[in-house]
Order: sequence, then C-alpha cells, then structure tokens
Amino acid sequence: MKPTQIVKGVYDVGVNDWNIEDFHGYSTPLGTSYNAYLIVDEKVVLIDTVKKEFTDQMLANIERIIDPRKIDFVISNHTEMDHSGGLAQVMHRIGEEKTVYCSKMGAKNLKLHFHQQLNLEPVSDGQELSLGSRTLTFLETRMLHWPDSMFTYLKEDKILFSSDGFGQHYAGFEKFDDAVGNAIMPHAKKYFANILLLYAPLILKLIDRVAKMGLQIDIICPDHGIIWRKDPAKIINAYFQWSKQIPRPKAVLVYDTMWHSTEKMANAIASGLAAEGIDVRPMYLRKWHRSDIMTEVLDAKAVIIGSPTLNNSLFPTVSDIITYMKGLKPQNKIGAAFGSYGWSGEAVKQITKELQEMKFEIIEPIRKQYIPDKKGLEESYEFGQTIGRTIHSSLKREFS
Ligand code: FEO
Repeated sequence: MKPTQIVKGVYDVGVNDWNIEDFHGYSTPLGTSYNAYLIVDEKVVLIDTVKKEFTDQMLANIERIIDPRKIDFVISNHTEMDHSGGLAQVMHRIGEEKTVYCSKMGAKNLKLHFHQQLNLEPVSDGQELSLGSRTLTFLETRMLHWPDSMFTYLKEDKILFSSDGFGQHYAGFEKFDDAVGNAIMPHAKKYFANILLLYAPLILKLIDRVAKMGLQIDIICPDHGIIWRKDPAKIINAYFQWSKQIPRPKAVLVYDTMWHSTEKMANAIASGLAAEGIDVRPMYLRKWHRSDIMTEVLDAKAVIIGSPTLNNSLFPTVSDIITYMKGLKPQNKIGAAFGSYGWSGEAVKQITKELQEMKFEIIEPIRKQYIPDKKGLEESYEFGQTIGRTIHSSLKREFS
C-alpha cells in the first residue's frame, strides 16, 4: 500500500493486519492496523514501529519515501509489541547506534522486552526535540495505558501522535475520519471500553491538562485505525463522555445456559425490563464476545448476569466475562444475578459476591430449581421490572 501523506513531509508508513480476529482477547472482525509515522524534515524521524511480523512491510513503505538508512532517530511512544515489535529489526537496518527516544519507563520496559543493546534516550514530560524546521514535544501519559505510554506532538503542524489513545481496531483503505464518517465511532467506543476504561479517571485529567496547556490539535494520529483530521474534537469529546461513564436507561443481560432454563429466565427478565422502557441487550455468552459485551456495558446502567450452577460453581463462560469486566472496573452500575440450578445452586450467590466486589448497587437475585414453571417465569419478568424501575429511580437521582 502506498504510504499516505498526512501533511507535507508527514507520512503514515504503517500496515493493515487484515486477518487478525483476536487481539489479546479482544475480537477484531475487521482486523486492525499498526500505524507508524515518518516525518521527513532536516532530520528524519520514525514514530513507533509495527508488530514484528509486519516489519518488512513497514520498511518497504518507508523505502517508497526515503532510504530507511536516512532515518536519524526513532521515537517509541509505547512498548507494547504491536508498536515496538519491529524496533530491533528497524535499528539493525537504519544503524544500531541511532537514538531511540522514549519515556523513562519506556527505556526500562524496552530493555526488558529486547534484552539487547539499544541506544535509548529517555525524555521528560514537555521536553522538545528539533527536527530542523519543525519541533516535537513529548507528553508523558503514564498508565494510558501502560506505565511507559507517551504522546508526541508536532508543534508546527499541530499533530498529536497519540499512541493507543483515540485508536480503533479497524483495517481499511480509508485512512481518515472524513472518509469513514460516523461508521468509525462504534469501533472507537469498543476500543475505549476494552482498552482504556480502567484508566477513565486519568483520561479526564489528561483532557483537562491538555486544555490548560492550550495545546491546539488539528490532527490526531493514533497507532490503530483512522487518523482524525476533519474533526479531532469529535473523538476528544467522545472520550470525555465515555470517561465520565454517564449511564443511559439501558441494561446488559449476560448469560449462559445448559438446558435452556437460565435462558428462559433471561428472556422473561428481558421482557420485564423492556416493559419498563429499558433498552435491554440480552447477550448470550456463546454468541457474543466478551469485548462486544464490554462495549455495551460502557453506557448501561445495569449489568445482569445469569448462570446455571455447574459443579458447585459458575458456568466457565460466566467466570470469563466476570473476570474480564472486573479488571476493567466499570463504575456506577446496578448489578443483579439470576440462574437455574439443579441441587446446590451456588452460582447466583457467587455472581452476587462478584458484583458486590465491583461496587455495583445490588438487587436481590433470583434463582429457580431445574425448569422455571409459569410462576417462575412471571417472577423472572417481575424481577426485570424491578430492575427497570430501580434504573429509572437511580438515573433520576443522578440527574436531578
Ligand atoms: Fe496498541 Fe497498547 O498497544
């Protein structure tokens, strides 16, 4: 693919990974891209690399612009291997003596990843680096989303190279927001919900800090997906909203089932919620991927989890989503558990305990032995209605 020129002398030399379906446990049906950026000024700089197996493709992209040996230095905004995997090969090609600028934690982490001599030069927050006619500024963004993460800002062109921030797992020939339009937003939301949600309070602080600095941003170049040039404020505003985790009258109903009894309860609960005007999303765990479920959880007020009891415990898929969700620490939710059981019925209690640990507001759970009868399904429906009414009263309190 011919490298895209973003502004004069600034190119995306990254690659599309069309075939990846699972990015460390995150479903990527449209693949992803590993963006890397080349700035050709009096000095030539490469910002980030790509996943190791795509390095030759990236170097071929660079060759279409300039001899890679003319690169004067490399900036590593983030150590994770989808952006640093190609670093050793790149340095071998351009000259191992050349400098790799990174954050202080980046220097530590790159050593632990590569176990080889790299000429690492740690930079501090706000430090500048001249390229000749243009200047780069480094912005430390620790824990967004790794301890080493930083952004790099190209002053004269007002371009923010934002590493994973504002990214999307999306592979396409369109490289800019104006070519994709709103269709990109669900991918950006999914990325936020699954990669950055845990750090939402830090994102709010970062947005505030950038506003106070008066940093003008005309273009955002993330390390995944499209580049924001038409309306960078759109994704910044979306991050502001998502970071605040403002809920809607919406419930995510996640469940698995062995002999359809928990499923029957789920359907009745969903009907009860819908009858109360709640936007309910029933998500059967063998149909929906955990990363799609988390995307729906982001703006939901309630998370309702159902499981049969298997060997005195949760059904394995239910354990999986709970572990995943717990790690991402969604805030400000109502939680409820339900399920069918045969004889011991521990699962519902175990889900409730997990929801309590996530600091959700708990609604008394419901469980039914073996197959729910008409009364059991009516009670499940009423359980859904109770949750629905609690969602409304809770949102009323929050927004009054
Ligand atoms: Fe795209 Fe944190 O790596």
